[in-house]
Amino acid sequence: MIRRIYLLLSDNVEFLKLNIDVIGSWPGKICLFIGEVKRNTPELIKIDKLTHGALTRCIKSSEFKKLEYTESLLVSYPVGICATSIQIIKLPDRKRSDLIRETGASAADKVKSGRILFLALSECNMCEILYGFFLKSYSFDTYKSRNFLPNQAVSVMSKVPSALKKKFMSFEALLAGIYFTRDLINEPANILNTVEFSTRLEELSLLGLDVKILDEGELQKLGMNALLAVGRGSSSPSKVVVIEWKNENSNHKPLLLVGKGVVFDSGGISIKPAGGMEEMVMDMGGAGVVAGVMKTIALRRSKSNVIGVIGLVENMPDGNSQRPGDIVKSMKGDTIEVINTDAEGRLVLCDLLWYAQKQFRPSAIIDLATLTGAVIVALGHENAGIFSNDDEICEQFLKSAELSGEGAWRMPLSENYAKLLKSRVADIANTGGRGAGACTAAKFLERFVSREIPWVHIDIAGVAFSRVSSKFHNKGATGWGVSSLNRMIIDFYEKNK
Ligand code: BES
Ligand code: MN
Ligand code: ZN
Repeated sequence: MIRRIYLLLSDNVEFLKLNIDVIGSWPGKICLFIGEVKRNTPELIKIDKLTHGALTRCIKSSEFKKLEYTESLLVSYPVGICATSIQIIKLPDRKRSDLIRETGASAADKVKSGRILFLALSECNMCEILYGFFLKSYSFDTYKSRNFLPNQAVSVMSKVPSALKKKFMSFEALLAGIYFTRDLINEPANILNTVEFSTRLEELSLLGLDVKILDEGELQKLGMNALLAVGRGSSSPSKVVVIEWKNENSNHKPLLLVGKGVVFDSGGISIKPAGGMEEMVMDMGGAGVVAGVMKTIALRRSKSNVIGVIGLVENMPDGNSQRPGDIVKSMKGDTIEVINTDAEGRLVLCDLLWYAQKQFRPSAIIDLATLTGAVIVALGHENAGIFSNDDEICEQFLKSAELSGEGAWRMPLSENYAKLLKSRVADIANTGGRGAGACTAAKFLERFVSREIPWVHIDIAGVAFSRVSSKFHNKGATGWGVSSLNRMIIDFYEKNK
């Protein structure tokens, strides 16, 4: 089986020095990104000469004027150069990085094969263009035995390739993290079971991360009975993986990232209907995002202290499964009545959250989970549901998400939601009835976080995976959250406070 390990994208992108002879003899496709202004650069003038004015005719045409940004015109088999085509993509005239990124993504849609040459007319634009291009050109084809194409490769020509290469490194680290997350989420559960998942996380130690795996025996000793109860029906053992990134020059309390890693959620004894159940291979999305962020910050040697805590379990029906009506004792000591075995994510997270606080004394905790269908009813696939006990950290996250172009919307954690979780027989029930499902789930988790610790819970059930392709991703895993969290760490956790 072919395994792609994205340590860096260096195999997929090469940086060349501007050279008109190389352009003239380029055997594949050329991509130019051109706006309405500032387009008579020496390089374009030279290409124009080579092609007997084809370029000028194209960009001065009324068709080009009419184009919206990201749209393009194609010059096929131009005279005077070897290239099979020149794709001329319209750049927005405003210097907005999100719009420029979109033109890169549109290039990925237009040129799907062959050797591609991008011409960088401006270095700052080119990083965003490449970032958009690689976000969109990702596809999960590990199991396609026919049409297997190697991942898209690009050559980029610029005046100072070494400077561009250096500038692109942080984007590369981010892309490698996002690709890692997407791969994990797309993998089927017969391959990516709890054992395989923990092995892939262990490989992160090659990047300088410290990875520890706790097995069922250790989890039992710690008292993580709620988490263990979820995995009882599976033949794959439950595991908790701790991934630590430590910046030697700082002894700040760590930021903690906690991820729900249900490798498959059948619902357990409260089994889900068959239609769409196959999508529950993505129920480890939170864990996937945490893994991707850890990879990114390690690749770019972040000046921060971050710890990822990931709970890996499989929720299956079996003679050993937990039943509706069971009462389990969480690590915190609170007893939980299991009303519905399909509300398993919160059982996993409550023990992870408690363990994380006790073990690592964090400065803040952010958990990510594909936790409820209800958040999809509330927000659809545009926004993740954000819940927090602290306005400051919540604003930090929302700001970072906005800068990253990832949708996020704050939801309420009002006191009254707690009433819906009352149990007849235990301290708390694991479901809260029909209304406000995303809010009661968050309220359940809040009980397992000390009031003094700033905490953000992110319900990514609607955004982790997509049935349709979109601006920056094709069908399947989106990688939502890696960019926002990376941004948040850069802006708020790398400063020397
Ligand atoms: N993993 C699901 C939530 C989910 C649904 C994720 C759709 C992605 C897409 C979660 O474990 C679940 O089953 N939640 C139940 C909770 C209910 C039983 C209280 C739900 O949302 O229906
Ligand atoms: Mn479930
Ligand atoms: Zn689930």
